[in-house]
Amino acid sequence: MEMRRLLVLFALLSVTAVVPVFFWPDKKGSASDVIVVAAPPFNSSNVTVVSWKPRIFLYKGFLSDDECDHLVKLGKEKMKRSMVADNESGKSVMSEVRTSSGMFLDKKQDPVVSGIEKRIAAWTLLPEENAENIQILRYEHGQKYDPHFDYFHDKVNQLQGGHRYATVLTYLSTVEKGGETIFPNAEGWESQVKDDSFSDCAKKGLAVKAVKGDSVLFFNLQADGTPDPLSLHGSCPVIEGEKWSAPKWIHVRSYDNALKQSEECSDLSENCAAWAASGECDNNAVYMIGTEDSPGQCQKSCNACSL
Ligand SMILES: *[C@@H]1O[C@H](CO)[C@@H](O)[C@H](O)[C@H]1NC(C)=O
Ligand SMILES: *[C@@H]1O[C@H](CO)[C@@H](O)[C@H](O)[C@H]1NC(C)=O
Ligand SMILES: *[C@@H]1O[C@H](CO)[C@@H](O)[C@H](O)[C@H]1NC(C)=O
Repeated sequence: MEMRRLLVLFALLSVTAVVPVFFWPDKKGSASDVIVVAAPPFNSSNVTVVSWKPRIFLYKGFLSDDECDHLVKLGKEKMKRSMVADNESGKSVMSEVRTSSGMFLDKKQDPVVSGIEKRIAAWTLLPEENAENIQILRYEHGQKYDPHFDYFHDKVNQLQGGHRYATVLTYLSTVEKGGETIFPNAEGWESQVKDDSFSDCAKKGLAVKAVKGDSVLFFNLQADGTPDPLSLHGSCPVIEGEKWSAPKWIHVRSYDNALKQSEECSDLSENCAAWAASGECDNNAVYMIGTEDSPGQCQKSCNACSL
């Protein structure tokens, strides 16, 4: 038994050459050891442009079948009904706009997740610390997510890392019918040729089919940092099959360090607001704001919380 497992591993290693293979015993150290063959490292020649307005790119085979199956397995363990951010308060609320189920993985939860997070950073050229944890979503028959923006309408959600600058949406299953990602505001979407394999919903915008292992990268902000209303997108209802996807949202600033910074950043004197109003933040910056090594008295009133 032990010998056979080693042979399987050896065979995989020899056919996949540079492709990393993750292999580790499961929690009980029992017979069901995990072997996950990863997709090849990031290769820009696998990326095609879907649209420039908004900016949408498609990467065929971004994840291997094994990586997809592994994420689905992790997701199944903790599925919950998905929420949306309330427009004013920013709180998570349940809504008929979004009927899928989902959960968040931990960052670097295991070697497979770490490898995917690194590959996403290599593709987007955006640091891992700016990204939220990978989410795993399941859409069953009839479930959908109406067109929406990934940037926020509320201020609260922007405190942690600012707007969601980019979205990397990876499909973990192939949906037989429906479940397309649709961009109803994409420029020139009317000229996309669609046969009967697309759902009616997909015929109302630029559509990308959910194919296992493929990944879509789109930018929710324009190059100047302002929200891009063309980035409106949704998930068409699933008609046949089941849709599993893994969105990763990447913010304009660090998402991991933001909470720490906002806790550390405060006014140390009750006079700060008055001093700031009289121009002391500019005139007396070292005392008021401080330096990188030594925070000043009034960082909060001087709006200097993300030094
Ligand atoms: C990237 O992909 C192209 C096309 O599939 C291939 O020709 C090239 O060798 C790949 N590059 C690397 C570094 O694997
Ligand atoms: C993507 O990469 C895979 C593996 O390197 C390769 O076999 C395939 O031809 C590439 N696809 C495209 C569209 O370049
Ligand atoms: C939130 O606000 C945006 C823009 O004002 C609007 O398009 C959207 O429908 C609102 N969403 C909800 C759930 O109210």
